[in-house]
Amino acid sequence: MAADRAYDLIVFGASGFTGQFVVEEVARVAAEADAPRPLTWAVAGRSLSKLEEVLERAASALGIPELKSKESIICDVNDPLSLAEMCKQGSVILNCVGPYRFFGEPVVKACVENGTHCVDISGEPQYLEGMQLKYDSQAAEKGVYVVGSCGFDSIPADMGILYTRNQLKGTLTAVEGFLLVQTGPEGASFHDGTWQSAVHGMSDQDNLRKLRRQFGHKPLPVIGAKLRRRGSVFHSNTMNQYAIPFMGSDASVVKRTQRYLYENLQESPVQYGAYATVGGIGSVILLMVAGFFFWCFTQCRWGRKLLIQYPEFFSAGYFTKQGPTKNQMAGTSFSFMFFGEGYREDQDPQQGKPSVKICTQVKGPEPGYVATPIAMVQAAVTILWEPKSLPNRGGVYSPGAAFSRTTLTERLNKHGIEFTVISKPER
Ligand SMILES: NC(=O)c1ccc[n+]([C@@H]2O[C@H](COP(=O)([O-])OP(=O)(O)OC[C@H]3O[C@@H](n4cnc5c(N)ncnc54)[C@H](OP(=O)(O)O)[C@@H]3O)[C@@H](O)[C@H]2O)c1
Repeated sequence: MAADRAYDLIVFGASGFTGQFVVEEVARVAAEADAPRPLTWAVAGRSLSKLEEVLERAASALGIPELKSKESIICDVNDPLSLAEMCKQGSVILNCVGPYRFFGEPVVKACVENGTHCVDISGEPQYLEGMQLKYDSQAAEKGVYVVGSCGFDSIPADMGILYTRNQLKGTLTAVEGFLLVQTGPEGASFHDGTWQSAVHGMSDQDNLRKLRRQFGHKPLPVIGAKLRRRGSVFHSNTMNQYAIPFMGSDASVVKRTQRYLYENLQESPVQYGAYATVGGIGSVILLMVAGFFFWCFTQCRWGRKLLIQYPEFFSAGYFTKQGPTKNQMAGTSFSFMFFGEGYREDQDPQQGKPSVKICTQVKGPEPGYVATPIAMVQAAVTILWEPKSLPNRGGVYSPGAAFSRTTLTERLNKHGIEFTVISKPER
């Protein structure tokens, strides 16, 4: 499909804070010598002058003057004809236009209708699961792959669980994952595009529950010992600091992947607990107070308005309208530690206590604007270059469901998101 398209990849929302770095990453990958074939690509967005500025900045940042003459496609989410025109020109759309709850659906619809694959970097479970509910069968009919959450949310966690499972001889049954973000002397911050997605997501939890009921899923069977129940704050001895449940989309994305693999490929489901480390007791108290006020403000319209108008004030400088500086990005990195348990090959995972443990790590550069573009671009080229390893039918997928049989993990390893085993049973 789509062999006749003018471009392999189109970066939509290229003028956004994240979009500009996705453009640079596409340009880097296109310049690599070991690509199976030359990569053709263009940028898209609603403002020609902004797109031209992005190309100029990328050209000077990467020292590739030819980038200035890349084609810009004018396309507005509110104009379905322009979306269709963009989709007809590309094989894979890299959609960077968010918050996805407001802007995502028309792009998915246009991609499905026009036979164009699509990846995005949403961390919004309601949008991700809503698109699966609404467009999965149409995408399957058209042979189109729509893969959401292909950024830091939630490729490291989702592919990390699959990597951990593949490294263990036997049956992996449960994993606890701990996120650790390390910052340099100037600290870390994020662009307010992500803040807006979080504010709206938090305010709409009831509708997420209603949406989930519409799937009519049976609960996934619990294989092996049940995952340990954790409170809303606990001390992790393994990480030697306090941890809280990770609020991003990872838990929801991993669950969708595990359900897909269980229901379609009869693979044993892995239970997952997603946590973020927060440091000592002082940080816990600060976070609890801030989290409480954040939640209160998201519950009414004026509160949301204030949060969105003054991200810097309400997030104590962690989310800004300018986004992180170059120094902040260079000094920041992330790692996920995955602690898994399971049963040896010769053991029945339905009987007795887990007998083997494994620890793996996924680590990488600054999560929002360095690791996210790497993950997104590698997801897009995997669709393009490994079509035979994708699920047999098109559809709306989580990354793990779409890429479990591809070489995405190896691709990420080569591009700076590293998957390693820390410890595992000798045999
Ligand atoms: N998964 C992750 O880890 C991760 C990491 C980073 C970002 N994200 C997500 O990525 C999304 C974008 O974040 P950001 O910080 O880059 O936001 P941003 O800077 O505000 O960028 C938004 C982009 O959407 C475009 N846009 C807005 N309305 C449009 C319309 N009607 N038609 C066409 N384009 C339109 C904007 O175009 P103009 O320039 O013309 O306004 C801009 O290019 C957010 O949802 C964020 O949560 C996820």
